[in-house]
Amino acid sequence: MVPRARILGTGRGVPSRVVSNDDLSRIVDTNDAWITERTGIKERRLIEDGRVTSDLAAEAARNACESAGISPSELDCIVLGTVTPDMPMPATAVYVQQKLGISGIPAFDLSAACAGFLYGLTIADSFVRAGQYKRVCVIGVEVLSRILDWTDRNTCVLFGDGAGAVIVGPSEDPSRGILSTHIFADGGCAQHLLIPGGGTVHPTTPQSVADKLHHVKMNGREIFKNAVKNLASASIAALEANGMTAADVDLVVAHQANLRIIEAVAERIKLPLDRFHLNIQRYGNTSSASVPIALDEALREGKIQPGMRILFSALGAGLSWGSAMLRW
Ligand code: UT7
Repeated sequence: MVPRARILGTGRGVPSRVVSNDDLSRIVDTNDAWITERTGIKERRLIEDGRVTSDLAAEAARNACESAGISPSELDCIVLGTVTPDMPMPATAVYVQQKLGISGIPAFDLSAACAGFLYGLTIADSFVRAGQYKRVCVIGVEVLSRILDWTDRNTCVLFGDGAGAVIVGPSEDPSRGILSTHIFADGGCAQHLLIPGGGTVHPTTPQSVADKLHHVKMNGREIFKNAVKNLASASIAALEANGMTAADVDLVVAHQANLRIIEAVAERIKLPLDRFHLNIQRYGNTSSASVPIALDEALREGKIQPGMRILFSALGAGLSWGSAMLRW
């Protein structure tokens, strides 16, 4: 058993096309003031024509390998969280593998919506500590723009596209690395955020498409309430598991779904907002990509230094949520 796993490198792959709130107000009945006040979002990045989920994911994975100082050929597993795969079958992770020019290693997708990266990190942490793999690439990637209903202002203004990735491997220093992970789910809230069509409940038919069942449906208020409650409790679980108080945390990299959710969680766990890395204003909600994109940004901006204690948290459809504590 390896005592600890740690993040050896990070990377992101984000589209170059930036779409502002004003741009959206030209296609749907919304405005910059509403979106800014209710969510904190000013702009988001939407994928370019001709590119797909695995392109963004492969870009993030390549950048993460580079920052870890390894070649993609040294990877021994790929775990990819997404709800917007290239196609329902096969896994998007195999296309990423192909685009990285490698083969033979396990590569699979997991479905935990906005918590997908944290679920993937938990799996990678276990693989590495069990001694099974030494270089696991965990990717969170989403191209929600291709499945949103661009006539529904309740959802289409909230999301952005992008990918983030990390490489997880054994930590030589047992005091550094992933200290804990906690993941949770509650199917009792499944109806509040879902894509109802395209599965076995509502297979794709002309009628299911006419009824717009292939788009994201969300009860925003219910998700908001549950997000504040569960992100706070998952953060507290991480603190308690490590014998820490909020004052011990140097930086929080939380899922960027709504600035008001982050503010409410900060208040509940008694941490000032300046301890949170915020990029929602520039990316919107990129679902499973949100935490790894924010982590990569914070790291490259020099906000994360060795020895710092970093708290991750995320919540999404399922509901699925979780937290992780790291000593960098
Ligand atoms: O990634 C994890 C999953 N997602 C989330 O965590 C999202 C959680 N929920 C939220 O962030 C918020 O609930 C929203 C941002 C989605 C909505 O904010 P809200 O403060 O809960 O607004 P609301 O849904 O209660 O709507 C308030 C009003 C409504 O008008 P009426 O009924 O009061 O006349 C909406 O029709 O705002 C209206 N509205 C809009 N107006 C302009 C809703 N969307 C828009 C819009 N532009 N885009």
